[in-house]
Amino acid sequence: MMNADKPPVCDYEGSDYQSTFWDTGGREYEDQVEALALRRLLPRSGTLMLEIGAGAGRNTPRYHAYQKVVLVDYSATQLQQAQANLGTSDRYTYVAADVYQLPFVAGVFDGATMIRTLHHMAEPQLAIQQVRSALQPNANFILEYANKHNLKAMLRYALGRQTWSPYSPEAVEFTELNFDFHPQSVRSWLESSGFLINRQLTVSHFRVDSIKRLFPLDLLVKLDGIAQLTGNWWQLSPSVFVSTSTTGETPIAPTGEMFRCLVCDQSDFDRTSAALTCRSCGHIWSSENGIYDFRLKQS
Ligand SMILES: C[S@@+](CC[C@H](N)C(=O)[O-])C[C@H]1O[C@@H](n2cnc3c(N)ncnc32)[C@H](O)[C@@H]1O
Repeated sequence: MMNADKPPVCDYEGSDYQSTFWDTGGREYEDQVEALALRRLLPRSGTLMLEIGAGAGRNTPRYHAYQKVVLVDYSATQLQQAQANLGTSDRYTYVAADVYQLPFVAGVFDGATMIRTLHHMAEPQLAIQQVRSALQPNANFILEYANKHNLKAMLRYALGRQTWSPYSPEAVEFTELNFDFHPQSVRSWLESSGFLINRQLTVSHFRVDSIKRLFPLDLLVKLDGIAQLTGNWWQLSPSVFVSTSTTGETPIAPTGEMFRCLVCDQSDFDRTSAALTCRSCGHIWSSENGIYDFRLKQS
């Protein structure tokens, strides 16, 4: 089945992103300041959380306050790595799917995160709307985005080293399918999609190789932790975490229902360990080694 109108996806299939970028890439500082931001923003308890763009599950153990986590990623190989790290208990459900076409009934989750993933979205508001419809009323959603309105970009712009303006609302695509966004734009997409912004943390203020080499990691993490707290007032760091809650009287999914068929929108399936077969239209959604596959082919 093809899908002509679908926005393009930045494909991580077969990528060694986790090992090259995180495990051996000198990103301890970024990882620790993100962990701190999540600790500050995550609710104390929750039932079922949706992690969009989960990758190899770097952040997933940080969601321990939720009883269960559904990891969604477009790349099945990223999910295989996550499964190898996190295991196959019923605490985790692994779903290969596109954030633009989420295979969940409305109002299933009471929490969601999307970390380092919005920056791959050519249609960010469409992705945010999909997340909103999977969430219940008063659910928590933590969104991280790459901020074009950052100090380094301002300096480069002032010195004529960069043509695009960090002050204007449109996104900048610095490499194919890698976007930096303006904080005002992200806030307006969130608000018009049914999210109330509760708190913003600015993150990774010292993401500069020379600074990371010169100063001890612990010190930089402490200083970033202090600077994060200015996030409601101004956003000048390369990364911003926004904590929101859903607004509006939207549906809550019936108990036990989670998936919807992307072909006919029904949620009644015959289940085997190898597939979910839609009872309404007969479409078969496969499940291989514990990873559901709800991806529609790109055109
Ligand atoms: C930069 S990685 C971040 C992974 C993880 N959140 C982390 O912070 O370590 C971005 C992830 O988003 C996934 N992704 C990109 N576009 C997607 C889409 N349209 N739908 C679902 N996942 C997508 C990629 O496969 C990749 O695993």
